Amino acid sequence: MKVIVCETYEEMSRCAADVVADVMKARHDCVLGLATGSTPVGMYDELVRRYEAGELDFSAVRSVNLDEYYPISPDNAQSYRYFMNTNLFDRVNIDKAQTAVPDGSAPDPEAECRAYEEKIAALGQVDIQVLGIGQNGHIGFNEPAEALHPLTHLTALTESTIKANARFFSEDEVIPTSALTMGMGTILRAKKILILANGEAKADAIATLLSGMLTTSCPASFLNLHDDVVVICDRAAMSKVQA
Ligand code: GLP
Repeated sequence: MKVIVCETYEEMSRCAADVVADVMKARHDCVLGLATGSTPVGMYDELVRRYEAGELDFSAVRSVNLDEYYPISPDNAQSYRYFMNTNLFDRVNIDKAQTAVPDGSAPDPEAECRAYEEKIAALGQVDIQVLGIGQNGHIGFNEPAEALHPLTHLTALTESTIKANARFFSEDEVIPTSALTMGMGTILRAKKILILANGEAKADAIATLLSGMLTTSCPASFLNLHDDVVVICDRAAMSKVQA
C-alpha cells in the first residue's frame, strides 16, 4: 500500500488527479470507478481544469460509480447520479451513455444489483477505483457488519452514516436509509485502487486500514488484500496511525 501524506486538501486533490490522469493517458478508453461524497470534489475540479486546459480527453472514457441511495430519483439533487453529472460529467467531454451509476429508481432493487454487476463485468476490469472512506470505515456503502457482501447489493445504512450524510439534505428532505452499492469483491476486482481521506473524523478508519489487519468492523481494511492501493490523505487523517 502506497501512502501519500499531503499538507492541504488542494494538494491532495492535485495528487489524486495525477494518479487518475496517468491511468487516462495510458488508456484513452479506460474504465474509471468513481466515488461521491465531499472528499473527491477537489479531485473532480482538478480533472475538469486539466480537461479545460486540453491536457485530458474523456471522449472514450467509460465509468462506473460505487453506489446510489435507494430509493431515489436520478433527478433528485441529492442523488449520486446528480452529484456525478454536476461535479464531473456535465463539465467534461465524456459520453454520458458510457457512465453507469446504480439506478436508485429501479422498481426491483435485487434485479438492478444483478444487472449492475453484469454491466461492470461487460466493461472488463475497472482500471482505477476511486474511494472515499466513511468515518466508520465504510467504502461505497459497505457498512461495518459481522459479514460483508461480495457483490452489488441493497443495504441498510447505519445510524452513523445517515447522520454523517444528513449535512447534504435540507430539513424538509427525507434522508434515505438504504442504498445500492458495489460489494467488497466488486471493488477489489479493480486493477488499481485510490482511496482519499482528509480530516480528523477519518483518523480511526485510516489507522485501522494502515494497521494492515482485516476486520469486518472496518470494511476498508479489506483493501489490504489488494496489491495496488494508493492512499492519499492529510495529516489529520493520519493522526492516529501507529508509528
Ligand atoms: C458516503 C459514500 C462514500 C463516501 C463516504 C464519505 O457514505 N457512500 O462513498 O466515501 O460517504 O463521504 P465524505 O467524503 O463526504 O466524507
